[in-house]
Amino acid sequence: MVEPIYLSTRSEREKWIREADYNLFNLRSEQVYIDLLTDSGTGAMSDKQWAAIMTGDESYAGSSSYYHLKETILTLFGFEYFLPTHQGRAAENVLFSVLVKKGDFIPGNAHFDTTKGHIEFRHATAVDCTIGESGDTSNLHPFKGNLDLQLLRETLGKHPKENIPFIIITVTCNSTGGQPVSMQNIREVKELADQFGIPVLFDSARFAENAWFISQREPGYENKTIREIVREMFSYADGMTMSSKKDGIVNIGGFIAMRNKSWYDESCTFNIMFEGFVTYGGMAGRDMNALAVGLMEATEPDYLASRIGQVQYLGEMLSGYGIPVQKPYGGHAVFVDAKMFLPNVPQEEFIAQTLCIELYLEAGIRSVEVGTLMADRDPDTRENRYPKLEFMRLAIPRRVYTNLHLEVVAVALKNVFDRCDSIKTGYRIVSEAPILRHFTVKLKPTR
Ligand code: F0G
Repeated sequence: MVEPIYLSTRSEREKWIREADYNLFNLRSEQVYIDLLTDSGTGAMSDKQWAAIMTGDESYAGSSSYYHLKETILTLFGFEYFLPTHQGRAAENVLFSVLVKKGDFIPGNAHFDTTKGHIEFRHATAVDCTIGESGDTSNLHPFKGNLDLQLLRETLGKHPKENIPFIIITVTCNSTGGQPVSMQNIREVKELADQFGIPVLFDSARFAENAWFISQREPGYENKTIREIVREMFSYADGMTMSSKKDGIVNIGGFIAMRNKSWYDESCTFNIMFEGFVTYGGMAGRDMNALAVGLMEATEPDYLASRIGQVQYLGEMLSGYGIPVQKPYGGHAVFVDAKMFLPNVPQEEFIAQTLCIELYLEAGIRSVEVGTLMADRDPDTRENRYPKLEFMRLAIPRRVYTNLHLEVVAVALKNVFDRCDSIKTGYRIVSEAPILRHFTVKLKPTR
């Protein structure tokens, strides 16, 4: 598919962003020139995926599309049991309804916001055990999604086993910049988890991109295929949640998969209540068919080389202009270090959000804040949680934009960078939701 895009004027964008209460989620897509809000559900499907759509089986129960997807999941990940869901957070909702209870602790590597939301919604606590190197954007550690094993061991030792239902490893780690987790780290986390008798789950949205980084960066994996690497990664997991909107290259969908039959049996009840019958769970048969094809395409090395190569291309251009970004560049996005970019804006005034708005005003480019707004308030004290890093994420949809679009993005951001000293104030909150506030927050300039 191709879609025309419209270049607006600065005065139009000033009006639109004001009407959107300075929240980029409130913009209409026609008001956006290049949309790097997310890589989620925004990819272009292939000819083979569209062909699979045409042969979708829409039977309520036991459709051939369900079995097509079930076999693909077994082949790729080695999990016998699976349930479709309408997207990733629905997968979290179903599985966490079985596993998470009040007072639990769930260690992981910088849990994604919906994952953390589903944990905190159940009055449990997400414990971030990411390695310290990920908090320094200039540190070139090749696996900045890794878990700190010492910290993990302390966390596992501190709470009774009954209060730690699982450890969750996010591959790649979105919140630290689309950063991969090494096979060695995955293996060591699993060994530690086994010592304590605690299961390991993967939040698998970008599993194929993680496997690509392992193939490129980890000794011993240079001659393995992406699918062999994926199979080994998941051999250390007891189950997975998946947002198919990323490395499934479909516009909507998700699933959970696991080895354990009793988890599956219990999850079926929640799936039927929240999502739909166990063989469709919120997905059309045609969409399950397209997903089965997408999962295989996402694990093709040529696709991954071009996809991740495009992200690196944008990262290199920005670095060339001296713009501070998380390095090494991530798999799905370039994360701009907004604290370094806008040193004069106070953190209480949402530095990264201020930068996102400036880039939109400059050239109609939509990005997303991964900073204080997204970090939300502490559920107990209701104080703002100030993360160590304030990021503006430039997420690249799969198979959509050309490198020329990315050159426009790089030059636009350089224009903002050239006047960064003059940007001294940010925004204040007018109204916000009690949880996951960044999606619907209303803001006003502080000056
Ligand atoms: N886990 C990770 C690592 C994610 O990045 C996301 C979504 C989810 C779970 C939830 O999946 O959206 O299908 O419900 N990330 C999107 C993003 C929204 O822009 O990074 P979902």
